[in-house]
Amino acid sequence: MDLKYMNFRSQDGIGWAQFNRPEKLNALNADVLNDLEDVLAVCEADDAIRVVVLTGHEKAFVAGADIGGMATGDIRFACELTDQTIRVQERLADLPKPTIAAISGYALGGGCEVALCCDFRIAADNAVFGLPEITLGVIPGGGGTQRLPRLVGIAAAAELILLGEMIKADRAERIGLVNKVVPFDQLEDEVKALAAKLMQKPSLALRAAKTAMRKGLNASLKEGLQIEQDLFCMLFGTEDQKEGMAAFMEKRKPTFKGR
Ligand code: COA
Repeated sequence: MDLKYMNFRSQDGIGWAQFNRPEKLNALNADVLNDLEDVLAVCEADDAIRVVVLTGHEKAFVAGADIGGMATGDIRFACELTDQTIRVQERLADLPKPTIAAISGYALGGGCEVALCCDFRIAADNAVFGLPEITLGVIPGGGGTQRLPRLVGIAAAAELILLGEMIKADRAERIGLVNKVVPFDQLEDEVKALAAKLMQKPSLALRAAKTAMRKGLNASLKEGLQIEQDLFCMLFGTEDQKEGMAAFMEKRKPTFKGR
């Protein structure tokens, strides 16, 4: 992979994708998004990758979209930027494997929005979250007004979106924006432990559970229940369902094969 602003490595079942534009606090531009799209394509295709982790540097996960690149943009520019942003974010949100955002430092604007597309958000105690777009004369354009209220409720979301203020990791944990906060030097181990737990689960059931939650959030309750029922029934055609239930009956640990 020829990446300009990201690093990527696959190790012990985890695809580690690191934003790497430190001189601009990993601010997102078209090149960074192209890199992210390439990384996601590899993660989708490589069966050895069971869990995907997005991370940045100590000072910044991602400090938002590149303001310098946007400052003189016109409406056409904004449409093209958001088309690309939404396409890449949807690919991340729909990735058929669990995703974890490992967040240290600033996760602002588009960085917060990328984290919102992941299944889990584990934050270091120095993490800072915000959707400061309102202070720039715009609104979040990468899903923030839609994904944040769905995750934390509209009252807490309004604090971030309408005031544009930044919140620290402990507040982010209290409102449910992050799953867990740990000291910075424990972030990687915490993420590895979560990934290890996920890797023990049956991958087809994980994929189905993720699809049911994601699609259900965008559907009526009736439609969501139908999605859940269809996926539940489909899993009875897998070896892992037979193994999981047999293991329970035989009082042993299951060995899942992802089939
Ligand atoms: N877009 C473009 N460049 C950015 C950026 C962004 N979103 N965020 C940070 N940078 C750049 C800075 O311009 C600076 O570049 P320079 O050294 O060439 O001037 C570099 O990253 C370091 O940032 P700096 O502002 O000096 O660090 P700081 O510690 O003083 O402040 C922030 C950190 C995150 C509070 C501040 O950079 C900031 O407010 N960034 C913008 C956040 C934002 O509004 N994001 C949403 C965009 S839609």
